Amino acid sequence: MNIQQALVSGTEKLKSAKIISASLDAEILLSWTLNKPKSYLFTYPEKKLTQAQLAKFEKYISRRSKNEPVAYLTSHKEFYGLDFLVNKNVLIPRPETELLVEEVLKNKKIKRLADIGTGSGCIAIALAKNNPELKIYAADISAKALIIARKNAKKYKLKNIIFKKGNLLEPIKNIKLDAVVANLPYLSKKIYKKNYHNLKFEPKNAMLAGKDGLDYYRKLFEQIKKLKYKPKYIFYENNGGMCYTGCG
Ligand SMILES: C[S@@+](CC[C@H](N)C(=O)[O-])C[C@H]1O[C@@H](n2cnc3c(N)ncnc32)[C@H](O)[C@@H]1O
Repeated sequence: MNIQQALVSGTEKLKSAKIISASLDAEILLSWTLNKPKSYLFTYPEKKLTQAQLAKFEKYISRRSKNEPVAYLTSHKEFYGLDFLVNKNVLIPRPETELLVEEVLKNKKIKRLADIGTGSGCIAIALAKNNPELKIYAADISAKALIIARKNAKKYKLKNIIFKKGNLLEPIKNIKLDAVVANLPYLSKKIYKKNYHNLKFEPKNAMLAGKDGLDYYRKLFEQIKKLKYKPKYIFYENNGGMCYTGCG
């Protein structure tokens, strides 16, 4: 089978599994299989796949047909123009979260901040890369997620992020911060259940936040109230989008 035939066949299989982005996904998975850029597929459509390449591609197509996200198949996801390593222990960074990064970078008064629920480290790393002056504390309750976050920070040779394991602000409660940034789990049980088919591969503890989806933000705000040094700004993402508040 050649590249063009593999693309047609992969796309058809994904379409019949009701994958909306069938043709794009087949292209990404084939270029990943061949370790070539997407442009290669269209420059050499007649090039034959080896048996091993075909078997690998077909395996990816079969997993994608069961709705496994492309990012978990390739172990990579782009966020804020940077490439992040991801696996099943971290939420796949979402484009809407780039808004949080954008807003924080606009505020030149922020020098020291915490990223709570850092996951893959995408927010902390995008901030650190775009403003090397920032001192960032990135925390997560999941040790497995922190392994990925640390790998991502290492890849970009970032020295201005300190990773901590713990419950919300607990591991950094004595540090004076200008801002707290958080993309914590915020799905209600109802929304999680409704979207289960699309979310089932990602860690439940990165998404589900009790009956109304506010469990973690309630706890975070309780912790902030008790801090000795209160941050001036809080940036967080929830169902309604990005929120930004000054603590006065
Ligand atoms: C919605 S994900 C966000 C991941 C990443 N910041 C992003 O934007 O893609 C939420 C993250 O919060 C973490 N988390 C859940 N409960 C936590 C807690 N009590 N304390 C700290 N982190 C928590 C999860 O492990 C997960 O990595």
